[in-house]
Amino acid sequence: FPVENIRNFSIVAHVDHGKSTLADRLLELTGTIDKTKNNKQVLDKLQVERERGITVKAQTASLFHNCEGKQYLLNLIDTPGHVDFSYEVSRSLSACQGVLLVVDANEGIQAQTVANFFLAFEAQLSVIPVINKIDLKNADPERVENQIEKVFDIPSDECIKISAKLGTNVESVLQAVIERIPPPKVHRKNPLRALVFDSTFDQYRGVIANVALFDGVVSKGDKIVSAHTQKTYEVNEVGVLNPNEQPTHKLYAGQVGYLIAGMKNVTEAQIGDTLYLHKQPVEPLPGFKSAKPMVFAGMYPIDQSEYNNLKSAIEKLTLNDSSVTVHRDSSLALGAGWRLGFLGLLHMEVFNQRLEQEYNASVILTTPTVPYKAVLSSSKLIKARRAVQKNMIFIDQNRVMLKYLFPLNEIVVDFYDSLKSLSSGYASFDYEDAGYQTAELVKMDILLNGNTVEELVTVVHKDKAHSIGKAICERLKDSLPRQLFEIAIQAAIGSKIIARETVKAYRKNVLAKCYGGDITRKMKLLKRQAEGKKKLRKIGNVEVPKDAFIKVLKTQ
Ligand code: GTP
Repeated sequence: FPVENIRNFSIVAHVDHGKSTLADRLLELTGTIDKTKNNKQVLDKLQVERERGITVKAQTASLFHNCEGKQYLLNLIDTPGHVDFSYEVSRSLSACQGVLLVVDANEGIQAQTVANFFLAFEAQLSVIPVINKIDLKNADPERVENQIEKVFDIPSDECIKISAKLGTNVESVLQAVIERIPPPKVHRKNPLRALVFDSTFDQYRGVIANVALFDGVVSKGDKIVSAHTQKTYEVNEVGVLNPNEQPTHKLYAGQVGYLIAGMKNVTEAQIGDTLYLHKQPVEPLPGFKSAKPMVFAGMYPIDQSEYNNLKSAIEKLTLNDSSVTVHRDSSLALGAGWRLGFLGLLHMEVFNQRLEQEYNASVILTTPTVPYKAVLSSSKLIKARRAVQKNMIFIDQNRVMLKYLFPLNEIVVDFYDSLKSLSSGYASFDYEDAGYQTAELVKMDILLNGNTVEELVTVVHKDKAHSIGKAICERLKDSLPRQLFEIAIQAAIGSKIIARETVKAYRKNVLAKCYGGDITRKMKLLKRQAEGKKKLRKIGNVEVPKDAFIKVLKTQ
């Protein structure tokens, strides 16, 4: 394929504005998939994507299209819309020269429309605005055109108005991709320089790396080197994604495709790595900024014998989702496990669900927390900070864009849901990291008869300590069995007790029901009680079953 006939582009949009539906129509129109009524979000291949109806993973498809007697190769990358997956979007853009910015004709510009536009703008890509869902009764494409002109400074006549669902005017989108997005700037005569922009792990074939070729050619049988590890591999297979893997003899600069080279170990395939030919080293490509996790949670196998299986499942899944950070951790209550960092709460839920569905793993996930930096000081003079308004822009008469500075832990857990319900679904939300701010945080201990339970120590905002402490004490009370003595459950900040619950004393006599005689039954019951005790942890004189910790620590 001559380079001038190649176009590499992404579809970006706010959640549900119709990216995946537009991708379906483009696949059909170019004959990549047959046109049937069943083509619904064809590129959303993961079970979690189909169940939730959202894209969480960018997907690539190569389309062939004839236009005015010339054949074009269009490499399309469908990307997720939710804020938690914007790292997928930014990586995908590195393999593209342009984007289709899809905006719902009814909802207009939303938070992720703005965030995605700026990702594309900063990467200096051509932006083609596509106003979708013009078939809807309340659609107002002219209003959206004006918003686009006002917020992005793109002339309104550059907007393409379509209905991805009905297929209306979708040909103009293909036409615009060919006319308005430049072909990649590459050099085929130079030695190979390929960027690994994504990768997956296949049980039988090892690592499958998605690559964008900036220079040169790669063929089956070539010896290639990873700039990151300096290891050499032989290429077993190259090909294009059509949208499923389709082997080809070679991949040329300007193309986007996949490559399998016997990388068995997940640490060998770094996303952002540059691959080059053996003995023909090149300057590595810039790669990617590493993702910055915002939400942290502990992950433990339900049964410690599952530790190694879970370890390998997490390794393979993080290869496919490099924005998750993993550190080993252990808890007295839950055993050996990990502390994982995610980009948001939905990201955490999706990762957990993928572990279960794709790797058959069942895990205990602890309540998420956000990172804090502690500064030791003798006074706590600094006032607690609330949200501070930074700026306000009217997008049009009906919509306003507000910028606030928030403490991360205030928005991480239920902010998005509350915002949606308060605004009856009208408000949308996106965030980026604004760095650490000082705040009045306190370390809260949970005590059982005066002894600290290490597993339950948390950092909370001073004003929230009472309600959180009370909730933990209540949950613990519900899950602690009565014992021979009274148990005081207390939440404390330093020496100050801020909440208390009591579990009354109770003598659990397992033999109570064995009236005299039956010695075998008596032995059996005593044995069962002893086994039960193995699962207990002693804090002071209080025995705490593992279950109780799980109930208090688990997210739901
Ligand atoms: P995420 O990947 O989760 O960000 O969503 P998306 O942007 O890919 O949206 P998707 O294609 O999944 O479409 C969201 C919903 O809008 C689906 O129910 C589609 O059927 C519907 N939809 C998409 N395009 C149109 C359209 O042109 N008209 C109408 N009426 N509905 C549409």
